[in-house]
Amino acid sequence: MSADILDGKQIAASVIDVVKLDTARLIEEAGVTPGLAVVIVGEDPASHAYVAAKGRMATECGFVSVQHTLSKAATQDELAALVAKLNDDDAIHGILVQLPLPGHLQPDLIIQSIKPEKDVDGLHVMNAGKVATGDLHGALVSCTPAGAMVLVRRIHGDDLSGLTAVVVGRSNLFGKPMSALLLAANATVTMAHSRTSNLPAVCQGADILVVAVGRAEMVKADWVKRGATVIDVGINRVDASEKGTGKTCLVGDVAFAQVAAVAGAITPVPGGVGPMTIAMLMRNTLHAARRKCGADIAKI
Ligand code: GUN
Repeated sequence: MSADILDGKQIAASVIDVVKLDTARLIEEAGVTPGLAVVIVGEDPASHAYVAAKGRMATECGFVSVQHTLSKAATQDELAALVAKLNDDDAIHGILVQLPLPGHLQPDLIIQSIKPEKDVDGLHVMNAGKVATGDLHGALVSCTPAGAMVLVRRIHGDDLSGLTAVVVGRSNLFGKPMSALLLAANATVTMAHSRTSNLPAVCQGADILVVAVGRAEMVKADWVKRGATVIDVGINRVDASEKGTGKTCLVGDVAFAQVAAVAGAITPVPGGVGPMTIAMLMRNTLHAARRKCGADIAKI
């Protein structure tokens, strides 16, 4: 048996198609164009590549897309002033401050200063709290867990009653909101982490196994129940000198080839959860714009 491959690129493209249609309708019916502002501080090339991709996708969706680039020497006050200005800008419905910030800045103060209704990253405590209490309709849900849930639903539908889910990793950015989303969909959820004893046995019990630990190919075939759905959130750059001197490649937290022989469905890395994150950012920005003008929002 070999697993179904969950093609994140294709599924993200189908989400983006819906966002484009709904954006065109919002512009036509309400005269409102969704606006996304992305703020980046410093010159980190990987962060600039991510931010550029977000901007391109926003433009492709028909949004107003604005990028603010601050020098790596920018002060906390300068960044806070920019966020305050964007909070007050009626043309901007979504604000994303790219992380990580340079070490002298305090990211939490900045993130918590974004108006919750413009927090399209879903990182404000107001949105995290709504997710934790199951108020998914009222929240902007953090993009990576929201994207991972879309993939889970492709396999299992909306109701996960009777299914066991194990989330490995307990970060505020992913593990905690992911567990809350699975629980809200009626799964029986276990959160595992670096202090969990006998992690392979815990994972073995999962119908749905979600891994976000940042350790290359940690999850092996004998950790996985036959037929399970495996969602790999890790992106690890590893040495690939067999492809040539100095070459590297990206792998997930799951040993893909061996686990694919056991699982029922699995996400590849790259091309699984990654493309879903940016699609969810677009969907959140559209939701924020629709909410601002009172339009009904689609189910998250
Ligand atoms: N850096 C890497 N991924 C993300 C993300 O999803 N949001 C923000 N704000 N920064 C990031």
